[in-house]
Amino acid sequence: MSSTQLNKRLQKVFLNYRAMNKYNVVQRDRGWGSNRAQLAGHELLCMLKERTNVETLQSHQGPLDVVDWAKYLPVQNLSEELGPLKNCAVVSSAGSIQRSSLGKEIDSHDAVLRFNGAPVLRYADDVGKKTTLRLINSQVMASENHKFLDNPLYTSGILVAWDPAPYYANLSEWFKKPDYPIFKRYKEYRQRHPNQPFYILHPQVQWRLWDIIQENTEERIQRNPPSSGFLGTFLMLSLCDLVHVYEYLPSRRQTDLCHYYEKFHDAACTLGAYHPLLFEKNLVKRMNQGSDLDIILHGKVTLHGFRTLNC
Ligand code: C5P
Repeated sequence: MSSTQLNKRLQKVFLNYRAMNKYNVVQRDRGWGSNRAQLAGHELLCMLKERTNVETLQSHQGPLDVVDWAKYLPVQNLSEELGPLKNCAVVSSAGSIQRSSLGKEIDSHDAVLRFNGAPVLRYADDVGKKTTLRLINSQVMASENHKFLDNPLYTSGILVAWDPAPYYANLSEWFKKPDYPIFKRYKEYRQRHPNQPFYILHPQVQWRLWDIIQENTEERIQRNPPSSGFLGTFLMLSLCDLVHVYEYLPSRRQTDLCHYYEKFHDAACTLGAYHPLLFEKNLVKRMNQGSDLDIILHGKVTLHGFRTLNC
């Protein structure tokens, strides 16, 4: 899809967000749409594999070693913590996963990634109940509504947090001025749950992914980080041999219901407003190695993990 296919309201929202440049994104030489030749899915996957790593903060990095919370950062990296994984599932939080009956299939994977405050209790038939990893943004960590520090939802599996830093910020700048108070919350959470592995994504990861989305899109995109959905898919591609992503590309159940777990309707949740969601989804559609029927019926995308690629 291109932005011209959005309805009038969403086009306006898109243009407003596109005009902003909160994170001082600088267009690199290759520029937007520079890969006009439309790379094939396999080439796109190789580009992701070769240009980006799942980097998480380590205690020796930048200013972090001088503050006491640095001691809370895990010693092992994510792939050491989890070991090599065969099949993995990424579960988008879209309302259209309701009545999918995908729960059993999702739980049959070696590892399952969920996002932010997405619950499993009462929704297991559609979304499963296994949670190996939960990717959370700093806004959710900071919000009083989510009760991040006390809600048992967050205590299963490994947590990975992220916060949008400025495009060129070094870690000390980001540490002093995150978008939301990720470091404060991280420390508080780790004090309460010292045994649960909890990582912080290096902010470069999101911008290297943003570069790739922009280079492979023939229009200018919002200069904001990719959505958790795209970050999480990338995370799993680097950990697993095979990744199934559920209801990120909408199935025939597509709906304006934003999340399966709350009554809030807005088509922007599926098509994008702040995040360049539409364009991320275009790339994922191009990379899909499963059938179109799998998308239409189940909202299911199949991607081969980086380890298995011959680039
Ligand atoms: O809203 P939240 O960021 O918690 O949702 C997790 C992810 O699920 C989003 O970042 C997005 O990639 C995906 N999503 C979607 N369509 C929706 C809601 C969420 O693709 N309607």
